[in-house]
Amino acid sequence: MDSMLVKSGHQLNGEVAASGAKNSALPLLFSTLLAEGEHVFHNVPKLKDIDSTCQLLNLFGCETQHDGQVLRVKVNRLKSQLANYDVVRKMRASILCLGPLVAKYGEAQVSLPGGCAIGTRPIDLHLEGMAALGAEITQESGYVVAKTKQLIGGDILFETVTVGGTENIMMAASLAKGTTRIENAAKEPEIVDLANYLNKMGAKITGAGTSILTIEGVSELKPAEHHVIADRIEAGTLLIAGAITGGEVTVTKCHPEHLPALIEKMRESGFKISHDKNSITVHKCNSWSGVDITTAPHPAFPTDLQAQFMALMTQAEGTSVISETIFENRFMHVQELMRLGANITPKTRVAVVRGNRGQMQGAPVMATDLRASACLVLAGLVAKGETKIGRIYHLDRGYERLEDKLSTLGAQIMRVQ
Ligand code: UD1
Repeated sequence: MDSMLVKSGHQLNGEVAASGAKNSALPLLFSTLLAEGEHVFHNVPKLKDIDSTCQLLNLFGCETQHDGQVLRVKVNRLKSQLANYDVVRKMRASILCLGPLVAKYGEAQVSLPGGCAIGTRPIDLHLEGMAALGAEITQESGYVVAKTKQLIGGDILFETVTVGGTENIMMAASLAKGTTRIENAAKEPEIVDLANYLNKMGAKITGAGTSILTIEGVSELKPAEHHVIADRIEAGTLLIAGAITGGEVTVTKCHPEHLPALIEKMRESGFKISHDKNSITVHKCNSWSGVDITTAPHPAFPTDLQAQFMALMTQAEGTSVISETIFENRFMHVQELMRLGANITPKTRVAVVRGNRGQMQGAPVMATDLRASACLVLAGLVAKGETKIGRIYHLDRGYERLEDKLSTLGAQIMRVQ
């Protein structure tokens, strides 16, 4: 199993480009199930989660081809509508096939995802939404079975903001009869990207990016071509990598307007951040202060950057209170940061970080989930000596060549067996 070896003491400087957004590409790939023919996506990152999605689409009977950053999905008449446990347990986002399959083919069987490292992450809101559109939902031997003759538009009020739930229902409602209104919808940029693609396919969706979505169902959708938006979480991670070493790093090919809370919090901490339309720069900074963050749905601070920001706060002057409101068990990086010498007091959903700049020391640590892995790589850039991060496969699920990108900026990082 691969590990990542990071040697500290190197300031990161220079320019690096963000890749396409994993969390946009995944729902986009599932949306192809809504229309037979060839769909073409540009700016698709090479990641394990993209491979898993292609594997699932292939099992359904689609043909996928990922050359460079271009991914083509040819959707033929499907031979199966079954998403089995082996694929779903590897990638929870597989649940996003439910809405499109039921809307287009009238039936889907999707394995229940089971336990998850960062919390229980139920799918009840996806199922309630599908039921509100008229799908008959049963549970059989660990699988959700959803059936319908024809989905009918309806009114859905999500009690919790759910990104995946909003995406699933938006896709399903596109082929439903009549109009669907989703209240308390997620407003993430990835929702807007999906709505844009569905509209290119012929859907009639308005309100994407606000908390009320209206979807007027159509009888047929056609394949289209699309450029996936940049990955705001990767861009934020690269920016923090520059910041934690006190260097000047510019992330290009990204969308600064997708990272309002991170930019605001980094400025509040003392960093100078500048940006133009498609790039963000963190400028050299010798000392920064502890600031408090609370994760919440977009446009508030993203839970997917909480672990990386915590790494930055271990090197701040003063104290930072980090509150996690989205997932109930997303502090597993805390114990590992403490093994490096970070001064953190974890409570249930709050961690108090007392900055002790220059005090951390490299050690072997274990990655527990995707964003925790990135946090440990960032910590390794400043923990004296060498940090070896195990279970790096988590990182490969969501970061495209992170070690190459950081090396370009001057980091000493390599993958070891
Ligand atoms: C997506 C992102 C993930 C990000 C998360 C929150 C993808 C592929 N993944 O995950 O990186 O961390 O948004 O920004 O885009 N919930 C329920 N019932 C449901 C669905 C969700 O209770 O049916 C709860 C979850 O347990 C969680 C909260 O709602 O506490 C938000 O989850 P959700 O937005 O659905 O996350 P995902 O779509 O799984």
